[in-house]
Amino acid sequence: MKITVSTTAPSQIETECLVVPVLDASAAANNGEKPKPSPQLQTNDKAVNDAAAELISSGEVTGKMLELTLLHKPQGVKAKRVLFVGGGKAKNFSSYELRKLAGAAVRNLKAKNLKSFVFVAPNSWTGTADPEAHSTYVFQREGVEDAVKSIVEGAFVGNFEPNYYQSDREDKQIQELIIAAQGDAKALNAAAQQGRIIGEAQNFTRDLANEPSNKMTPTVMGERAKKMSHEVGLHCEVYGPDKLHELKMGAFWSVSQGSEEEPRLIVMRYEPEGAPQNPVLGLVGKGITFDTGGISIKPADGMEKMKYDMAGGAAMIGAMRAIAQLKPNVRVICIVCASENMPSGTAQKPGDVQIAMSGKSIEVINTDAEGRLVLADGLHYAKQLGATHLIDAATLTGAVVVALGMVNAGIFSNDEDFYESFSQSLKKSGEKMWRLPVDEEYRDMLKSNIADMMNVGGRWGGAVTAAMFLKEFVGDTPWIHLDIAGVAWMEDNKPWIAKGPSGVPVRSLVEFVQDVARGDGSATSGSGIGGGFTANQQQVKGTEAAQKRSDSGVGL
Ligand code: BES
Ligand code: ZN
Ligand code: ZN
Repeated sequence: MKITVSTTAPSQIETECLVVPVLDASAAANNGEKPKPSPQLQTNDKAVNDAAAELISSGEVTGKMLELTLLHKPQGVKAKRVLFVGGGKAKNFSSYELRKLAGAAVRNLKAKNLKSFVFVAPNSWTGTADPEAHSTYVFQREGVEDAVKSIVEGAFVGNFEPNYYQSDREDKQIQELIIAAQGDAKALNAAAQQGRIIGEAQNFTRDLANEPSNKMTPTVMGERAKKMSHEVGLHCEVYGPDKLHELKMGAFWSVSQGSEEEPRLIVMRYEPEGAPQNPVLGLVGKGITFDTGGISIKPADGMEKMKYDMAGGAAMIGAMRAIAQLKPNVRVICIVCASENMPSGTAQKPGDVQIAMSGKSIEVINTDAEGRLVLADGLHYAKQLGATHLIDAATLTGAVVVALGMVNAGIFSNDEDFYESFSQSLKKSGEKMWRLPVDEEYRDMLKSNIADMMNVGGRWGGAVTAAMFLKEFVGDTPWIHLDIAGVAWMEDNKPWIAKGPSGVPVRSLVEFVQDVARGDGSATSGSGIGGGFTANQQQVKGTEAAQKRSDSGVGL
């Protein structure tokens, strides 16, 4: 989709359709009665306001969230049509809602076979949204550039269709989006192109996660990462079983040993010249291209969805794509552990003990808790490669879906400053995440009779015990874990997004990396995010443990 910005008055732009947001400016009445809607067009353009007057006075346009009203041949306006899109209460309105409006406009108009349209950036985009109006979140609402970027991101989200393999698939994409906005043309264009890069990265991730497991094997995932890296100028290495053995990645290997398909260890690096040595952000993704559960096999019902068990890895690869294009001045490395989880004669069995790369021993009680096994080695390796701060993303547990449903991802962290910085970036990305604990008390649930820990923690608090398991492998390194099992896949079509992969948490990762590079991500400025940590200390600790294991003759 081609993206441009126009500073011409909306009524004077010739287009197939002019999309105008409408907000409801009514305030709650004191007597507790529902207030009458007070629709406000988000443009001062008199001709557009005149064209809407009748629809508003008739009560047809109220500004209700996602209300769509199409007007043909509007008087005094050069566009062939005007689409009014309701954005809900004016005081609540933020980038979160604006993205949805743009996505809904795209999906509505492409269904009508339109190929291009103009979206009017809201003119009342000043100050922050009323924090009282959002009981739990305050999303960004800063300046018209931010509005332009959000519109573009939302439009890309709406333009994606997952129906790749339908033989009668029609190409109904919107090919050109023009954003009508008033301001400094250069800054507006830069914002639009940022939005495009982030939107494309999100769709790149959705593209990977959408593929079925026969098309998206670990090998293919590695190839796709490599091809993309080549296109955007990233350094990318893709390794197979030999490297896993060489690195003594016993936890990762144990998951892949039951499969005919070889695992892939994908290592990507973004190391801009002149970037500070510290921090080095380590993005680690779970890339299970199909999760049958292994010998602890899953029930047949719904198992087909386990093709998206690589969504965390796909998000990391997508984020790296945007990072390479946006060029923030910070070092980022990315590790994706790609494997199938299959039952077979060579598969690991419940009760098996595996030695992770860090040297820690794991009693595998349930082979379906495989994500944490591959991540254990991925996180350790990221530290060994010099990551000073770790973020992992994984469709890790069904338990997080029980806890948070499909609205919020679970977020876990061992470091307050790091968490605080990341949550600031969430205000920009509009991706909802809710923090869950990693108190030491939960660690007892992983105690094993035979090994350092079990890979599952029993019936209760499943998302937390999974995070506790990962925590064992990050040590003191500031770390954020994103359990995206409930949010990586949209269960239903929504007006602004198709059913299928969502691309969460690409936007948050990209915003965060940019914030860190700008210095906004630093809760304690100076030595990088959170400060105080040196990569080398961790490296030594981990390698020592692994050395001890290999000395005692316990191999893979
Ligand atoms: N891939 C699943 C988690 C999952 C569930 C992802 C639903 C997406 C939607 C993970 O590997 C898994 O199977 N976890 C088990 C852990 C259990 C055995 C402790 C689960 O959540 O049931
Ligand atoms: Zn599993
Ligand atoms: Zn899994």
